[in-house]
Amino acid sequence: MRFGGLTAVRSVDFTVNSGEIVGLIGPNGAGKTTFFNCLTGLYVPTEGTVAYQGKVLPPKPHLVTQAGIARTFQNIRLFANMTVLENVLVGRHTRTKEGLWSALLRGPGFRKAERESEARALELLEFVGLADKREHLARNLPYGEQRKLEIARALASEPGLLLLDEPTAGMNPQETRTTEELVFAIRDMGIAVLVIEHDMRFIFNLCDRVAVLVQGEKLIEGTSEVVQADERVIAAYLGEPFEGEPGAAEAAEVEAAEAGAAAADTAGTVATAKAAATATDTADATRAGTAEGEGEAAEAGAADVEAAGSADSTEGETQ
Ligand SMILES: Nc1ncnc2c1ncn2[C@@H]1O[C@H](COP(=O)(O)OP(=O)(O)O)[C@@H](O)[C@H]1O
Ligand SMILES: [Mg+2]
Repeated sequence: MRFGGLTAVRSVDFTVNSGEIVGLIGPNGAGKTTFFNCLTGLYVPTEGTVAYQGKVLPPKPHLVTQAGIARTFQNIRLFANMTVLENVLVGRHTRTKEGLWSALLRGPGFRKAERESEARALELLEFVGLADKREHLARNLPYGEQRKLEIARALASEPGLLLLDEPTAGMNPQETRTTEELVFAIRDMGIAVLVIEHDMRFIFNLCDRVAVLVQGEKLIEGTSEVVQADERVIAAYLGEPFEGEPGAAEAAEVEAAEAGAAAADTAGTVATAKAAATATDTADATRAGTAEGEGEAAEAGAADVEAAGSADSTEGETQ
C-alpha cells in the first residue's frame, strides 16, 4: 500500500486460522492500521489481494463485513447520540434482510427480524458486560466501555474473523484484564482474532502467534516466546518508543484520505451509491454517499446518514 512516495505496507503475507488469536505489533507508523484498512476494504491496496476462506475479497467495506470480517477502530467510531443497544443493532444490519434504514426507521414488515436482532444484540451486550447500560447514550459511556461496545457491535455482524485495533488503548489495568478475558471468550466462540496492541504483556499473554511489523514490512512472525526473545524486535522497540495515540493532525489526515478513497470507490454509479447508503460500519461509506449523492435513493440515504453522521463519532471526546 503506497501513499504518494510512502510505502506504508509492503509484501505483508499473513494467515489467521480459525480458533487462533494472532497479534500484530510494531512501532507507531509501522503500517498496522493501514494493513487493517487494506484487509477491510477501506483502502484499495496498490498491489496484492485479500482472501478470506479461499475467496478473494473485493475492496468494499460492506462486502468484507458480509463475507465475515468485522473490526474495531483505533479511534473509536460509535454513533455517539444513539443508545448502546442501537449501536449494536446497527452492527447487525449486514445479517438482516431488512437493512439499516428499516432498522433505524422501524418500517413495516420489520417486527420479527427486529425482535430476533434485539435478542441477539442483548445477548452480545450481556457478553461484553454492558447489558445494564443498553439505554445509555454511547457518548456517556466511559472510554473503556465504549471500546467494549465497539466489540459488541463488530460481533453483531456474526464474523468469522475479528480485527481489533488497539482494544485496550486508554484502559486501566483492570479493564485491560477483562478485555483479555473477553478476547479469549471470543476465540472460544470459534472466531479467529487478529489484534493490534502496544501493551506487550497483553499481547504475549493472549496470542498464539505474533507478527511484528516495522516500516511496513513483516520483521518476524512466531510464537510469543520466539518473538519476545528476538533481538531485532527488542532493538526495534528500544529504537522507537511508543507515544500512545497518533497526533490529531495525523489522525485528521488519515481520515481525509479514507474519505477520499471511499469517495473514489463509488465511481459515481447508482449501484455503489446505493451500497454506500446502506453501509454503516464505517463513517467513510456515509461520506461517500454524501460526496457522490447520485440517484434518489442515494440522496435520501445521504441526507439521513448525514443526520446520524453529524453525531457519529466520539473521537473528539476520546482522543
Ligand atoms: N490515508 C493515508 N494517507 C497518507 N499516509 C497514510 C495514510 N494512512 C496511513 N498513512 C501513513 O502510513 C504509515 C503507517 O500508518 P499506520 O498504518 O497508521 O501505522 P500504525 O497503525 O502502525 O501506527 C504512516 O507513516 C502514516 O502516516
Ligand atoms: Mg494504528
